[in-house]
Amino acid sequence: MTKSERTPIGVAGLDQMLDGGLISGSIAMVQGAPGTGKTTLGMQFLYYGATQENEPGLLVTFEHFPHTLYRDALAHGWNLRELEQEGKLRVVFTSPQVFLTSLQSPISPISSAIRDMGVRRVVVDSVTHFQSLTRNPVELRAYYNHLINALRREGITALLLSEDSSPDFVRGDRGRLAFVVDTVILLRYVEIDSVMQRAVAVLKTRGSNHDPFIRRFEVRPGGLVIYEAFTDRQGLLSGMPRRVR
Ligand SMILES: Nc1ncnc2c1ncn2[C@@H]1O[C@H](COP(=O)(O)OP(=O)(O)O)[C@@H](O)[C@H]1O
Ligand SMILES: [Mg+2]
Repeated sequence: MTKSERTPIGVAGLDQMLDGGLISGSIAMVQGAPGTGKTTLGMQFLYYGATQENEPGLLVTFEHFPHTLYRDALAHGWNLRELEQEGKLRVVFTSPQVFLTSLQSPISPISSAIRDMGVRRVVVDSVTHFQSLTRNPVELRAYYNHLINALRREGITALLLSEDSSPDFVRGDRGRLAFVVDTVILLRYVEIDSVMQRAVAVLKTRGSNHDPFIRRFEVRPGGLVIYEAFTDRQGLLSGMPRRVR
């Protein structure tokens, strides 16, 4: 696969795990408990795209007021407000209902922004909020499909952030989102020798190679930093790993 068909996330170690990045136009779910680093990863992906790849981005958030996002991003050295002024980024604070309806209408502010700005990268923070729309898993699945089809139609590369702390990522996934996305990136807290660490794993990438290892990472000023693989532990994704003898 050539490099031009890849969309780097902008986290060097994670892009290596993904054999160069996400496949351009594909959709990844980033799943993790609160505080694992999903929003940071999303902002890093958009900042990198806008500043390094000339790819305008859209951040759709259902939970963070834009001013808190701008503030948190600045702590990493990412000036999102400036990117918005330059037309390289749009931050939209809305509800899942309004977002879904907007995607259906070509003249909605969100659809216009995608078209007029030439948006190539989208982050949705978080898709877990779609669960507030219905208690019916079949309906939830239809909403997810609707979102994914709209993104695919535009050829957009997207990170769908999913807030789930269940160790069994499939059981916790009521709308079966993991089955319709191309890549699943898991962010986990793991307890090792009484110290909480963060672990990242890539679970599936349609039609490409990816790193099978679970790697340690940290959220540092400047974004996520990926470190070595946990090679001497088992059961990491359960959060309660055992040492391998
Ligand atoms: N500027 C920063 N420098 C270092 N660590 C940070 C910074 N900003 C956030 N973090 C760390 O990242 C964590 C929050 O990450 P966040 O992306 O908001 O997680 P999530 O969206 O998964 O809830 C915090 O717990 C904090 O430890
Ligand atoms: Mg968050």
